[in-house]
Amino acid sequence: MFFCKLGSRLALFFIASLIVLGADALPLPEARYEVRGKSNRDGIGKFYFDREIAHVMGHQGASWLERPEREEEERTELLVEVLGLKPGQTVADVGAGSGYFSWRMAQRVGEKGTVYAVEIQQEFLDLLMVNMRKRRVGDIVKPVLGTVQDPKLPANAVDLILLVDVYHEFDFPFEMTRAMIEALKPGGRIVFVEYRGEDPAVPIKRLHKMTVAQVRKELAVQAVKFDEVIATLPRQHVIVFRKI
Ligand SMILES: C[S@@+](CC[C@H](N)C(=O)[O-])C[C@H]1O[C@@H](n2cnc3c(N)ncnc32)[C@H](O)[C@@H]1O
Repeated sequence: MFFCKLGSRLALFFIASLIVLGADALPLPEARYEVRGKSNRDGIGKFYFDREIAHVMGHQGASWLERPEREEEERTELLVEVLGLKPGQTVADVGAGSGYFSWRMAQRVGEKGTVYAVEIQQEFLDLLMVNMRKRRVGDIVKPVLGTVQDPKLPANAVDLILLVDVYHEFDFPFEMTRAMIEALKPGGRIVFVEYRGEDPAVPIKRLHKMTVAQVRKELAVQAVKFDEVIATLPRQHVIVFRKI
């Protein structure tokens, strides 16, 4: 009886502490990751939800992102179309690389809109802004130098965040995703475009692909609700969540 009372008091104390301290009382972010050593030469040896995180693609790979055959291989115009962007919207291209998608998004949101192009490599941002000025969208696209944990976006300001072939490279997927969600307006969308991990015919290295199940598992710990998977692209799925 005594132990029973003590047990329920301890439980009440624990719940009260969580309420007072909030999410900070939960395990530290680093506890969500496991360092197991590399399973694959494309990985960094750090795992999240049993998935090895891939190496970040260097800015030296810019010409691959801009390859002329990309439109045919990946139907990139169709990808932008399915996002349903509207003139005047504020959107973000996180992991923007050379700006392949930033300028396509800029065409859709127009002069009254904004595209935040977020990168962790300054070399990519320099190249991106040269490309944006050439394409006459330099006033719409705003370069943002983020960190591996923080995209440095304004809070509650963004209608849609696009991540094309980026999320699997995040060194800190939990922190990056939490910060991106903070930047979304309520009901705003965060869109993950990843090569289909379920499909061995997609000619991309294993750690650079993701399954829908894995993305949903990792997003289940974030303040979003699953919206839809758009399956019209030849190699990638478009996985959409909304801020709660
Ligand atoms: C494979 S590239 C894709 C570029 C672009 N989205 C495209 O499809 O053309 C991945 C990019 O994500 C960037 N990246 C990786 N981690 C990042 C982070 N935490 N924040 C912002 N960008 C990041 C890398 O620097 C790299 O440029």
